[in-house]
Amino acid sequence: MNKITIAIDGFSSTGKSTIAKQLAKKLEYIYVDTGAMYRAVTLFALRKGHIDAENFSVNDLVADLDAINLTFKYNDSLGFAEMYLNGENVEKEIRTLHISEYVSKVAAIPEVRYQLVKQQQKMGKDKGIVMDGRDIGTVVFPDAELKLFMTASPEKRAMRRYKELIDKGDKVAYEDVLRNVQSRDYIDSHREDSPLRQAEDAVALDNSDMGLKEQFERILNLANRTI
Ligand code: C5P
Repeated sequence: MNKITIAIDGFSSTGKSTIAKQLAKKLEYIYVDTGAMYRAVTLFALRKGHIDAENFSVNDLVADLDAINLTFKYNDSLGFAEMYLNGENVEKEIRTLHISEYVSKVAAIPEVRYQLVKQQQKMGKDKGIVMDGRDIGTVVFPDAELKLFMTASPEKRAMRRYKELIDKGDKVAYEDVLRNVQSRDYIDSHREDSPLRQAEDAVALDNSDMGLKEQFERILNLANRTI
C-alpha cells in the first residue's frame, strides 16, 4: 500500500499524541513524538546546570549538543516508543511540569531545532510515519500528504493535562498547569525560528467539545482518503 507522511501540529495538550499514537497503530505506521525530543534536551540542560530559574547559558548548551544522544525504543507492553537520553529511559522524567516550565525556552534555540529537525527528517525519510509537534507540517515535512492542526481552549487543555499529571501522582495545581499551557503557547508561537502556526494546507480541528472517538474517526477517514 502507498505510504504517506502524516504531520500533526498544534498547541500543547490538545491530545495530539493520543490521536497520533492511535492512528499510527491502526495504519501500522511509525509514531514519533517530537515534543519528547525537546523535553529530553531540556532535561539534559537542567541536569548540566545550563538552565535554572535564574540563568540560561545558551552557549554552553549549544556547545554540549553533540553530547546528547536521543533514541526511541519501542516498549511492547506499553504499545509505544519511549524516550532514551544517552541510553537512559527518561520517559517519566520528561513529562513533569518542571520540564514543561523550561522546554519552550530550550526549543526556541535555533541550533537545538536544527539538530532535532535533521533527526526527525531522517526518521521519516521512508514515509509511513505519523509525527506530532509544532513545526512538522511547516518545517520538518512541508510536503506531508496529510497535515492536521489541533487546537482547543486553553482551559480545556490545561484541565486535561492537570488530570493526566494528577493521575501520574504529580502534585500540581490547576492554575500552575494553566499558566504553563498559556506561557508555552505564547513562546512557541512567537519565537523567531519555526514558530507554531497552522500550515496553509493543514486541516484544522478544534477538539474543545469533541470526544476522542469522534476525533479519531474523522482523522482516520481523512487519512484513508489521502492514502
Ligand atoms: O508536545 P509537547 O507538549 O510535549 O512539547 C513540548 C514543547 O516542545 C513545546 O511546548 C514546544 O516548546 C517544543 N516543541 C517544539 N517543536 C516540536 C515539538 C515540541 O518546539 N516539533
